[in-house]
Amino acid sequence: MNILVTGGAGYIGSHTCVALLEAGHTVIIVDNLSNSNSETLDKVKQITNREIIFYQIDVTNEKAVDNIFAIHDIEGVIHFAGLKAVGESVEKPLPYYYNNIVSTLVLANACQKYNVSNLVFSSSATVYGDNTVPFVETLNLLPTTNPYGETKVMSERILTDIAMANPSFSVSILRYFNPVGAHESGLIGEAPNGIPNNLMPYVSQVAKGKLRKLRVFGNDYPTVDGTGVRDYIHVMDLAEGHVAALDKITAGVHIYNLGTGQGTSVIELVKAFEEANDIKVPYEIVDRRPGDIASCYADASKAKRELGWIAKRDVISMCRDSWRFEKNNKDSGTSLWLSR
Ligand code: NAD
Ligand code: WQD
Repeated sequence: MNILVTGGAGYIGSHTCVALLEAGHTVIIVDNLSNSNSETLDKVKQITNREIIFYQIDVTNEKAVDNIFAIHDIEGVIHFAGLKAVGESVEKPLPYYYNNIVSTLVLANACQKYNVSNLVFSSSATVYGDNTVPFVETLNLLPTTNPYGETKVMSERILTDIAMANPSFSVSILRYFNPVGAHESGLIGEAPNGIPNNLMPYVSQVAKGKLRKLRVFGNDYPTVDGTGVRDYIHVMDLAEGHVAALDKITAGVHIYNLGTGQGTSVIELVKAFEEANDIKVPYEIVDRRPGDIASCYADASKAKRELGWIAKRDVISMCRDSWRFEKNNKDSGTSLWLSR
């Protein structure tokens, strides 16, 4: 199929393009490069030995998006493009609502106009809020405490309403848990700007000596060792989940958790990283981070049952692949540790 991938130069998008190309699809990427760079696309070509079509445009730009649909015979859309930093969304809610909601509206509109009936949307486990684990797709969603999470809840709602009103429209809403890791080549991976917010890139940068030590946010949660528990999923498993969702897409709205179903604590992740890479990761326990929940992991049985997809890579592979990319990533060499 000819697949339009918005945000395809980003972390999850670039890995998904690898999986799509390897499955024989043609990819047309649109990305404004606000949180990525075009070198990643060269790496995707290098890994797959396949060509990709790329347009540097903003998905909120209705005319530019319309033009892409007019030029290409698009058969499916995967919508990754969006802003994703939870903390920043609290400070600057307007760009988050604008970017994440308007991009969804523009794409849904273009799909209708050009009779493109398959759309896969990047949602997040954050929509569950502080629910009881494991999170199953049928749970009532709870408030997410941040504008980023609300943009995901709203986009899910918008796409659901559109699909209900248009019975031939097929929407797969994929709720990702905690994507980590990198392509096994070490050529593409997660390279956040500035000091990372997320655990795995922080751990990798501590291991590299770029940051002095990890701050573990709280050890008094009701979990196995008191530290926060999450469902880390290898980004290549996640990428393959998108291919499965496209292969199996049928009319209507289908919501799938993409996670492993396994919870791992912060300390367990640190120990796994040390074991996988034979390197020390110094850490200290500090106060809880506001807004964090104790535990978040998936009931991943629906994706297995309906898509025939399961996450295959374990936490050790996630740590090994994250570290391989971190070591290779030239943009990640400057020492910041005096500031932390
Ligand atoms: P990313 O920032 O690496 O990728 C997003 C890409 O979208 C970037 O390349 C950015 O330049 C592009 N982009 C942003 N706004 C755009 C716009 N208006 N027009 C065109 N391009 C635009 O993020 P990611 O981690 O790859 O996340 C991809 C999607 O998955 C996002 O929607 C995110 O909310 C969702 N998600 C991510 C996580 C995670 O932990 N990484 C978890 C759950 C859901
Ligand atoms: C994981 C665990 C922290 C950093 C976020 C978003 C979510 C989704 C995925 C987009 C927690 C602990 C972290 C650190 C730590 N993104 N931690 N020290 O918060 O589960 O999810 O990314 O949709 O919406 O909220 O991920 O990697 O930030 O944290 O102790 O320096 O690691 O407290 O228990 P989180 P995370």
